Amino acid sequence: MEPRASFSFKKNWWPAPVTLISCGRMNPLAGERGPNIWVVGVLGGPCDDPPLLTISPRVGMYSYKQLVEVGQFVVNIPPPQMVREMEYCGTHTGAEVDKWKACGFTPVKGEVVDVPLIAECPVNFECVVEKQLTFEREDGSPGEHELMIGRIVHVHAHQRCLVNGELQWDLVDTIYRSRPRTWRTMGPAIGFDERKSPLAKPQEAADLIEKRVKSYEDLADIIRGTPYPTQTAS
Ligand SMILES: Cc1cc2nc3c(=O)[nH]c(=O)nc-3n(C[C@H](O)[C@H](O)[C@H](O)COP(=O)(O)O)c2cc1C
Repeated sequence: MEPRASFSFKKNWWPAPVTLISCGRMNPLAGERGPNIWVVGVLGGPCDDPPLLTISPRVGMYSYKQLVEVGQFVVNIPPPQMVREMEYCGTHTGAEVDKWKACGFTPVKGEVVDVPLIAECPVNFECVVEKQLTFEREDGSPGEHELMIGRIVHVHAHQRCLVNGELQWDLVDTIYRSRPRTWRTMGPAIGFDERKSPLAKPQEAADLIEKRVKSYEDLADIIRGTPYPTQTAS
């Protein structure tokens, strides 16, 4: 067995896709802040039916007021080429800059929600806040973050991410955070679900993958040949 270390928990820097969250109404009501963008490092998908997503906003951050006020947000999936813009939105505050303008993003009104989605992102999930969970620190003071559960009410995707009208995640590359300030893209495919078949020996499995996937181009072809039903475009 590998030697193991154990320690108390500090911060959740585990590899996870990074998403851009737009919040605030496209056309703000009197007294409301204009639309803004911030970054979420750990996006959760706790339920398929009803379709839910979770985000964890820091209580009191500039965007927090807009999230609570409007009760809606959009999860925008950035492509790898958007890494600098992602960094900018996650390190600057809407209190001081217009992130839409600074990043050259095009706001497009949601189909269901009043919050704009980022047209340049290949996939966008329109969400309505379903529940908010608050937490307490050990000393009883409010937790740093809250959990916001959003119900997905509409999905948008660039045509190139669809096969026969179905959104194919293998065709949507995005940005992952593997540690603070280190961004990665998705690695090569390492297997295909062969449920219920006997376990392949590691070398056989490796040979199989080698044979099937030589590049992303091959992968796209395989996906085109075997589309997996996810989100059907209407
Ligand atoms: C990779 C990355 C992940 C982040 N994840 C979160 C998060 O999950 N929750 C959060 O409150 N802030 C997170 N942040 C920080 C906010 O995006 C950042 O504080 C942002 O500037 C807030 O914008 P605002 O002041 O306009 O509200 C993250 C930043 C980066 C760069």
